[in-house]
Amino acid sequence: METAARTEPAAVIVGIDGPAGTGKSSTSKAVAAKLGLRYLDTGAQYRAITWWMLNNGIDVADPAAVASAADKPSIVSGTDPAAPAISVDGVDVSGPIRGQEVTSHVSAVSAVPEVRARITELQRAIAAAAERGIVVEGRDIGTTVLPHADLKVFLTASPEVRAARRNGELKGKEAVDLATTQAALARRDAADSGRTTAPLAKAEDAVEVDTSELTLEQVVECVVTLVEERQRDR
Ligand code: DC
Repeated sequence: METAARTEPAAVIVGIDGPAGTGKSSTSKAVAAKLGLRYLDTGAQYRAITWWMLNNGIDVADPAAVASAADKPSIVSGTDPAAPAISVDGVDVSGPIRGQEVTSHVSAVSAVPEVRARITELQRAIAAAAERGIVVEGRDIGTTVLPHADLKVFLTASPEVRAARRNGELKGKEAVDLATTQAALARRDAADSGRTTAPLAKAEDAVEVDTSELTLEQVVECVVTLVEERQRDR
């Protein structure tokens, strides 16, 4: 007996870029969970390689030293939006990569072309393995890592809103005043946007969403609708 051919929906690839404090992580995780997709936090990968450099005596201010060590750590990213995990050489580093030391050195490490080449290769392999699709968040996903993504979103927010959100995330752990957080974010933006290789940038065909006046639920709803539209139009 002949059976009707069943066509599985093609994997959908979503890239969400933007600077820190615009709601990228919360939005990306919620969109992936709602649509049954995998989730990848590429900032966590850059943080993980930075953590490894700092813990293995590499001078992170020396791009040549960073470049020659870029291939050494084994970085494994989990892609469950409900429990994103990241390990380096088998050690769970999800906690330590959020600390001040990593945060203040990650822009320098991630500007090194050999680091970007290594991490970009990991990202593309993870995206290719996601059967139903994936939401990938970062700075250069739409421009460099996945230029053929089905949907590219670029999130923005005012500097004041971004600093307030970032301070809220720190929850007293390492919290500082708003002006200090705002200045630190501005420094990281300048470094991430100003680097030569794959800087933070909006892809020409990305949809820009200013999240300053929106709740998380509204941003999630907006991105879910955009993904569904793209899926329908394919
Ligand atoms: O999203 P985050 O704050 O965890 O990212 C940490 C740093 O990693 C960010 O300041 C720049 C770098 N990064 C990058 O260069 N490219 C990406 N795709 C993601 C992050």
